Amino acid sequence: MSDIDKDRSPSRRAFLQGAAAAGAGAFAAGNAQAATPDPLITEVQPWAQELGDGVDATPYGLPTAHEGDVIRRNVEWLTADTISSINFTPIHALDGTITPQGCAFERHHSGAIDLKKEDYRLMINGLVDTPLVFSYSDLERFPRENHVYFCECAANTGMEWAGAQLNGAQFTHGMIHNMEYTGVPLRTLLEEAGYQTAGKWVFVEGADASSNGRSIPMEKALDDVLIAFKANGEALRKEHGYPVRLVVPGWEGNMWVKWIRRIEVIENAVESREETSKYTDTLADGTSRKWTWAMDAKSVVTSPSPQAPITHGKGPMVISGLAWSGNGAITRVDVSKDGGKNWETARLAKPGENKALTRFYLDTSWDGEEMILQSRAMDETGYVQPTKTQLREVRGLNSVYHNNCIQTWLVRSNGQAENVEVS
Ligand code: MTE
Ligand code: CO
Repeated sequence: MSDIDKDRSPSRRAFLQGAAAAGAGAFAAGNAQAATPDPLITEVQPWAQELGDGVDATPYGLPTAHEGDVIRRNVEWLTADTISSINFTPIHALDGTITPQGCAFERHHSGAIDLKKEDYRLMINGLVDTPLVFSYSDLERFPRENHVYFCECAANTGMEWAGAQLNGAQFTHGMIHNMEYTGVPLRTLLEEAGYQTAGKWVFVEGADASSNGRSIPMEKALDDVLIAFKANGEALRKEHGYPVRLVVPGWEGNMWVKWIRRIEVIENAVESREETSKYTDTLADGTSRKWTWAMDAKSVVTSPSPQAPITHGKGPMVISGLAWSGNGAITRVDVSKDGGKNWETARLAKPGENKALTRFYLDTSWDGEEMILQSRAMDETGYVQPTKTQLREVRGLNSVYHNNCIQTWLVRSNGQAENVEVS
């Protein structure tokens, strides 16, 4: 067994020794050497001397106040106001893979609108045999499917091109969420309307003032795009497009039209202002790449990270993070503690799923020394997440969108972490 292997499988005895050495109260009671008894073990606490809340105290439950800092956060200087703006998922504080809607990032171009199911209409027109209008209850009559997918804004990690900038996984990588969607395949509705073979694209738009019009190739529209009306089992939240949004698996978030109201089958893509300028990728040689739809494989260590420092001493430690790919399933994630010189293969909590977040863990041991932490994702196509240097060789320093480079956290011996770059 190499030293690295030993580190990765701490024995139970080593774990207990580590805990006692760190003075963990829970172990003190059973430890003959413990000097002071722990009142949390030896005394009856107030919460055991009175009654708790009855049922219905909160008919729709809220997170406990003790977790009050697990919230979306906005970076004020990024945008002029909060209407056309973005906030970030607190990925540093979550575990597993499903993002609760209440803390899933929001991106609006003209604010989150309030639209009732009764007022909801979805029109399909253009190159179809029969233009159709569906009400919400019409949509509920089509066979529906459930799928878990991530949604990542093309701008995620976009502030990091020129240098390490935002100090926290929430801000560098939090323009992402991962939910279980319930909806009707777009293919079903296009077939219902009788799409014509001349139709090579669909133009999709929302009911909000910005309308967020986007063109999607017909091949994708007929593949896995969903007209979704539930997320994580319940109605979509207003900010995620209630009552109905488009789900475009693996593709950049701006195509996931919220409050979707119209789908036009067309021959040529509509060259909207946003698509031709804003979401274009700048390349190192000064030219631009027009369409980049799929989000390439990417990963980030969520803990430890700047907002989730190490609070325990030396010994057993879980390094945890998220990996995803818009081109399929994650097959492997490696973690480095020395800035990419040596890599250890992390444990995937579950086998990677198609276009969904994968949780990885490195069950390891910390010697109390500084670490230069990185993670590197691989997907089923064989693609390997690039370093920042590799990505810059192609994209230069002036890009904004589609930054999927390896992230580096410097973890100091006091457990604090910060966003850095290694050359
Ligand atoms: N759809 C409409 N109608 N209006 C919008 O402003 N923003 C897009 C997309 N769909 C937007 C929209 C962008 S840029 C992203 S990243 C995703 O919605 C974000 O979805 P979320 O707010 O549910 O996180
Ligand atoms: Co976006």
